[in-house]
Amino acid sequence: MNEPQPRRIRSFVRREGRLTNGQQRALDRLYPTWGVSWQSGEPLRIDTLFDRPAPLVLDIGFGDGEALAQMASAHPQRNYLGVEVYRAGTGQLLRQIETQGLTNLKVLLGDASDLLREAIPAGALAGLQLFFPDPWPKKRHHKRRMVQAEWLATVADRLAADGFLHMATDWAEYAEWMLELSSAEPRLVNGHGGFAPNAGERPPTRFERRGVRKGHDVFDLILNKLEA
Ligand SMILES: C[S@@+](CC[C@H](N)C(=O)[O-])C[C@H]1O[C@@H](n2cnc3c(N)ncnc32)[C@H](O)[C@@H]1O
Repeated sequence: MNEPQPRRIRSFVRREGRLTNGQQRALDRLYPTWGVSWQSGEPLRIDTLFDRPAPLVLDIGFGDGEALAQMASAHPQRNYLGVEVYRAGTGQLLRQIETQGLTNLKVLLGDASDLLREAIPAGALAGLQLFFPDPWPKKRHHKRRMVQAEWLATVADRLAADGFLHMATDWAEYAEWMLELSSAEPRLVNGHGGFAPNAGERPPTRFERRGVRKGHDVFDLILNKLEA
């Protein structure tokens, strides 16, 4: 008999209500073209997601997708896969992909933690972006944070040699947490020795602007996978 599996701790809570008819129609119309159908437990052929092979960057929790669409447009030599659990944001990004005619960006509506663990092969990613993840500030919720030692070990495994991990947050205590945990992962090298002096290639995001309006500082961390 199968043992019951312990419930996984999720980095999100589904608070989203019903989509408006327009939002639902956008998802129904656009997801078949630019969306990726995958559910936990299923295999995924990531090498067949795009029309042409190119270095693949995974963006976790793109929110409304504006910054991600800008990056995909600015880096046509890369393929981008954005993963979100927020359906309205996913619909917004799908609309931007259609309007801008982007061919190097696909969207997956689902849990990025499951995807990374189950469906991304070792060495498959040229980069992983985690911009302004939910900070889960209360101590009893820290276990819900995306960035954990185990997650960083999985990221290190999935990155190709010299692939990058770019994280950003406006929550100072989470920034210190990210710095401390990432320093302890031996396969990730921090060329800046601490926080990056600027945002690098990252355009401002919606949550970043919100944090800045509240007077928060912004912290970027950019690490690279050690050559094998
Ligand atoms: C604070 S928002 C930041 C959004 C965006 N990156 C920005 O900077 O504007 C965090 C996002 O991560 C998404 N998220 C949290 N956990 C996730 C998971 N396990 N898989 C996919 N998306 C997730 C949430 O739905 C939310 O939209």
